Amino acid sequence: MLFDLTEEHLMIQKAARDFANDVLKPGVIERDEHQKFPAEEIKQMGELGFLGMMVDPKYGGGGMDSISYVLAMEEISKVDASCSVVMSVNNSLVCWGLETFGTEEQKQKYLTRLATGEIIGAFCLSEPEAGSDATSQRTTAIDMGDHYLVNGTKNWITNGSTASVYLVITQTYPEKGHKGINALIIEKDTPGFVVGPKENKLGIRGSDTHSLMFTDVKVPKENRIGEDGFGFKFAMQTLSGGRIGIAAQALGIASGAFELALAYSKERKAFGKTINQHQAIAFKLADMATEIEAARLLCLKAAWLKDQHLDYVSAGAMAKVFASEVAMKTTVEAVQIHGGYGFVKEYHVERLMRDAKITQIYEGTSEVQRIVISRGLLQ
Ligand code: CAA
Repeated sequence: MLFDLTEEHLMIQKAARDFANDVLKPGVIERDEHQKFPAEEIKQMGELGFLGMMVDPKYGGGGMDSISYVLAMEEISKVDASCSVVMSVNNSLVCWGLETFGTEEQKQKYLTRLATGEIIGAFCLSEPEAGSDATSQRTTAIDMGDHYLVNGTKNWITNGSTASVYLVITQTYPEKGHKGINALIIEKDTPGFVVGPKENKLGIRGSDTHSLMFTDVKVPKENRIGEDGFGFKFAMQTLSGGRIGIAAQALGIASGAFELALAYSKERKAFGKTINQHQAIAFKLADMATEIEAARLLCLKAAWLKDQHLDYVSAGAMAKVFASEVAMKTTVEAVQIHGGYGFVKEYHVERLMRDAKITQIYEGTSEVQRIVISRGLLQ
């Protein structure tokens, strides 16, 4: 068993770390405060190849492995989780879903532009009454011969207003349960498609999250992904990989908060010595470091399984449930170590604590991950 990263992995990790510190950090507090989408920063991420990392170079991607993706996600998330959610959705849900299940025409038309970051994509599954229970889709796609007629509402969609291409999960044959679901590619300017107001969120406030409304939206049949009725499996398989990305995001939020807490503990003095020399703080730091390392190993293991084309469904769910719990716990402790300073925005840890919460909710709640893991055990 080898734990060494390759030269290439180390190079990608450093490139992501430098980009995060040099470009993302200066404006991150302001973007969070004003819910400002990082448009210029995302454009630069596309130019650097962070938006289509694993896509085949023939479609404009970086042709990298999932381990590289996890390393880059961790570094970007340490500094700006709003940017890393855009990166995660574009890479592991939209690009991966299209590259793996799309037709050649769909790839030519959409994938290259998505992988290079010329445009970004959104993945639309959640509805007012269908989040964890993903088979209960109410958005309908009626088969009209040469096209589908789509009606319904999607909720909490990342990149909701900034995306150009939306992968939308819809119900065509309600009587068939999950086998009646279709995934459709819908372009933003399609008549009848309206983007609702921006959500005012607790965390990842730089990312734009919206409801989407579809009223008699005509979608050509050639925009269906996979066979008729493949939509649920498309969503499940795509989300299985997406969970590795969100696990890496949670890992980054945790390690970002830890690094800040460690640095602060070496500077801040109390009772005549730096606070890291008090066991109350030193033991907290020891626990944080141990849990982060365990989360990192789970993320890398899931990514490695995916790269080896082995089953990574349970491993991805384990990485996500564990890393997101570590993110919550670590960020709360990082605020505590900073004391009063941790409660103000300039010290970054309060934002990381708010950002951490969503990692336990999106791309499957912690409860959903436990369903996935326990079903894997019972197989
Ligand atoms: N890979 C391949 N196939 C899968 C699969 C997977 N990971 N998971 C399930 N399937 C298949 C099953 O094998 C089954 O197929 P057969 O009938 O042919 O045997 C079929 O799909 C139905 O599976 P289940 O019976 O397990 O389905 P279920 O209704 O019990 O659901 C669930 C299980 C795990 C809870 C699922 O509904 C789920 O993952 N829910 C959470 C959805 C989610 O993650 N939502 C987040 C929204 S996206 C988002 O957040 C993006 C963003 O903006 C950041």
